[in-house]
Amino acid sequence: MKKSNGSNHRTITHLRCVVTICPIVLDGVMVRVVSGTEVLFDENQIAQRVDQLGKEVAGDYDSLLLIGVLTGAFMVTTDLSKALFVHGMDPTQLEIDFIAVTSYDGKQVSSREPIITKDVKKPIRDKHVLLVEDIVDTGYSIRTLIAMLSAKEPVSLAVLSLLSKPERREVDVPIKYLGFSIPDKYVYGYGVDDGFEQYRSLPFIGYKVE
Ligand code: IMP
Ligand code: MG
Repeated sequence: MKKSNGSNHRTITHLRCVVTICPIVLDGVMVRVVSGTEVLFDENQIAQRVDQLGKEVAGDYDSLLLIGVLTGAFMVTTDLSKALFVHGMDPTQLEIDFIAVTSYDGKQVSSREPIITKDVKKPIRDKHVLLVEDIVDTGYSIRTLIAMLSAKEPVSLAVLSLLSKPERREVDVPIKYLGFSIPDKYVYGYGVDDGFEQYRSLPFIGYKVE
């Protein structure tokens, strides 16, 4: 398969094409169009916001255990960990782990009964813990995770979420660091799937337009 030069590549999405992804050349630049997808936050906006969050978090903690919530938060957890280093956190004082929770289970509707499918490996007791989520929607997933991790007696436990849909909230949950508040739309990209395990690799966050 022919590969184009990655550095000369960008993605726009507001054009329609007959196939899902079609490459076109715009102003001499190869552009990848994701048909029927409206961009909510592009790659630069996400990078800037994650960098700002990293600066805040690095200013607040001398040592930290980051726990990314799989699968959706894998990209934000990765980028945040690098931002923490850039903003001065001692890399010997940062631990990273992941936990997996299934709340949507191949659907676009919350089950309201999230199930932990992979627990953390690292001990939590006496540590400062920051849970990193992709989206807080109804709030059930993060509430379950907070209850479960609090029982392991960390020194502190806080939540960072890249996105929050306040209109959809059914249970109150504390978000110490928030990337963006978004309207009630089903979004995907930047690690987040479309409800069918697709589109996680998009570097931007968008939603379907008919
Ligand atoms: P909650 O339990 O309803 O708060 O749902 C939280 C989880 O559902 C998030 O961490 C996401 O993994 C998933 N989720 C919620 N809204 C969306 C969405 O718009 N797109 C993709 N996944 C979502
Ligand atoms: Mg999630």
